Amino acid sequence: MPDLAQYHQQYKQKDDLEIKKRAFVKTQELAEVIKQIPLQTHNSFLKIAVLGCGDRRFIRYHLEMFENIFDLPVEMLTLDITLDHLAGVNNVFQHDCTQQLPYGPFDTIYSHVLLRFIQTDNQWEVLENSYAALKPGGLAIHVLDTIDYTIKDKLLPDGYFSVPLRRWEEKLKAENIIYKTIPLVHGVGLVLIKPY
Ligand SMILES: C[S@@+](CC[C@H](N)C(=O)[O-])C[C@H]1O[C@@H](n2cnc3c(N)ncnc32)[C@H](O)[C@@H]1O
Repeated sequence: MPDLAQYHQQYKQKDDLEIKKRAFVKTQELAEVIKQIPLQTHNSFLKIAVLGCGDRRFIRYHLEMFENIFDLPVEMLTLDITLDHLAGVNNVFQHDCTQQLPYGPFDTIYSHVLLRFIQTDNQWEVLENSYAALKPGGLAIHVLDTIDYTIKDKLLPDGYFSVPLRRWEEKLKAENIIYKTIPLVHGVGLVLIKPY
């Protein structure tokens, strides 16, 4: 897998407009997911965890995205396996998301193209941990790029790990975890739904 420090350096070189465009796409994707699976909650504010964040500029956009789409105040925290690229940002914590998630439970957990960074066999832990850290009625939303789950080899052409979507869907079914796979413009949203 490509070096994370190099990955973060490349992200840092992207201009603000590029980051804004990507944030806009994320917002469209999340809006589509929530249109199809409304979040069931009676809470006056939402507690949301973002798993992995490639660039510090996304943090503000993520908060705006959640507050606009859920139309509620949001307490958001971001977990990332390394913090160098997020140094000095509030509510950011170092954590390997293949390990049990801290600071839960959450109304919503969101990851954007994270699973490709994780060894294929360990991706299940991320899904399982995200489900375990949800409140009743909560949603764990894992956005995947099309290539992540269409490439059958273990590795993607850029060295990241492929995501065996069918295998995880079968395992979710076997574990009686309610889920939906929402088609999106650039891929899918694999959404784990905790009954209310
Ligand atoms: C979320 S993904 C992709 C970036 C995403 N498209 C975005 O918009 O932020 C990349 C981030 O995940 C982080 N990451 C990789 N493996 C991780 C793990 N096991 N636990 C938590 N974060 C991880 C990397 O450090 C990187 O910052």
